[in-house]
Order: sequence, then C-alpha cells, then structure tokens
Amino acid sequence: MYVEMKNIYKTFDGFHASDNVNFGIEKGQLAALLGPSGSGKTTILRMIAGLDVPDSGDILINGMRVNNLPGSKRGIGFVFQNYALFRYMTVADNIAFGLKIQKKSKAEIKERVDELLELIAMPGLGKRFPHQLSGGQRQRVAFARALAPNPQLLLLDEPFAAIDAKVRRELRTWLRDMIQRVGITSIFVTHDQEEAMEVANTIIITNQGRVEQIGAPEEICRNPETEFVSDFIDSKYLEAMKWRNG
Ligand SMILES: Nc1ncnc2c1ncn2[C@@H]1O[C@H](COP(=O)(O)OP(=O)(O)O)[C@@H](O)[C@H]1O
Ligand SMILES: [Mg+2]
Repeated sequence: MYVEMKNIYKTFDGFHASDNVNFGIEKGQLAALLGPSGSGKTTILRMIAGLDVPDSGDILINGMRVNNLPGSKRGIGFVFQNYALFRYMTVADNIAFGLKIQKKSKAEIKERVDELLELIAMPGLGKRFPHQLSGGQRQRVAFARALAPNPQLLLLDEPFAAIDAKVRRELRTWLRDMIQRVGITSIFVTHDQEEAMEVANTIIITNQGRVEQIGAPEEICRNPETEFVSDFIDSKYLEAMKWRNG
C-alpha cells in the first residue's frame, strides 16, 4: 500500500469529522473519496497533506509513518477546488512556484515549466495571467503547478467543482488520462458519483466520518455492503453496470 490510514480519529469541538477511518491505496491508483457534503472527505485529504493533524491513528506513506513529518516533506502535490492560482503571477511563475522554493536553477525551472506547459497542452501560454484563461485552463495550470516538484502523491479536492458542466466532462477525461500518463498515485475528493465512477479505479465511500466501503466502481455498484451505500449509489449506475456486465 502506498497510502494507509489506520484507525484515524479527528474531532472538531467534539464533532467526529473522522471516526476510525481505515483504508489503503496502492501505488499508481487513482482513488476517489466519495460521499455527501460534511462526511469528512476534505478532513482526510488535509490530514494526508499535513494540513491537519489526527487526534489519534497512523498515517503511512510508502510504509513510513508521517504523522510528525511536515506537509512540505511528504512529497505531495495539492490541487484545490477554487484553482487558488496566484493572481499576480504569470502562468509560468505559478507553475514554477514550488521549484523556486526548492531553489532550482533558472535553467532547470525553465525546462520543467516548458515541459509542463506542453503536458497540459498550453505551450506558449506561460506569459499569460490567470484572468486571461478559461476555467478549464486555470485548473490545468493548477494541476501543472502541483506536479512541478515531482510529487509522489497527488491530492485533489473537488477539482472540477467550480467549472461549468460541459467543460467539467472534458476535464475529467483529461485528468484521468493525464494521471495515467504521469503514473502518479492520486486521491481526489468528490460528492458527485458520476465523476467518481468515470474517473477513479478505486472508490472510498465516506459517511459521517466513517468509511462505508472501498472498492472498484463496478464492485461497489454490484455489491453495496451497507444500507447507506445502496441508498447513496444511484440505481441508474446499478442498471448501467448490470447492462455492462451482461
Ligand atoms: N476546521 C474545522 N473546524 C470545525 N469543524 C470542521 C472543520 N473542518 C471540518 N469541520 C467539520 O467536519 C465535518 C466534515 O467536514 P469535511 O471534511 O470538510 O467534509 P466534506 O469534505 O466531506 O464535505 C463537517 O461537519 C465540518 O463542519
Ligand atoms: Mg470537502
């Protein structure tokens, strides 16, 4: 397992945001944390990133307990829901941000930025500012910025939420292909089951701070293990899966 959450508890003022969370994700997987709003998805992501500390339990990355390791040393890239690009920086400077912190040379930075602009299909747009981009382009820049320092784990919190429906569809497919191409272990948060089904190869279903089920999309559709999961997963996906699997 590349990422492991073991017996994780986290409370906010007595409220159980994580209530004995356990799961593991293998290297190279693209996992979705799927659940209703308030079910504890973002809390899990923030603890993996080192932005929040669990009350108890262990977080392991690549077999190492990271509870006491600062987020910046965990080899993680983070993409937020609202792009969070630096408005007064060009696209190239946004992408270069993590590399400058790492004190890479100018030449190295330029090479990496050009490579990433190519990867996100925006070559030559490095001099633009965020407001000169479409929502989809901005989110691709956020993705490039997260990938620039070569993280081993990519975390994305509702990365498509602020983007309109049509572009969101395209961006989903794009992201899935891109993550496969880069081969990076990734976890993304969503409350949209269609998005999880379409993008992820593992789905972790959260409810009231607990993990209800973890499995491949087909498996979760075919064999919902709890009442919550069978209620939450829309029957239209069950039908589609039955049809798909004969
Ligand atoms: N910093 C915080 N302070 C107080 N309560 C919080 C904090 N962060 C999260 N919570 C609470 O924990 C619960 C889970 O939140 P969150 O992990 O953001 O859920 P999700 O991402 O699934 O919508 C929510 O009820 C939320 O109000
Ligand atoms: Mg959230």
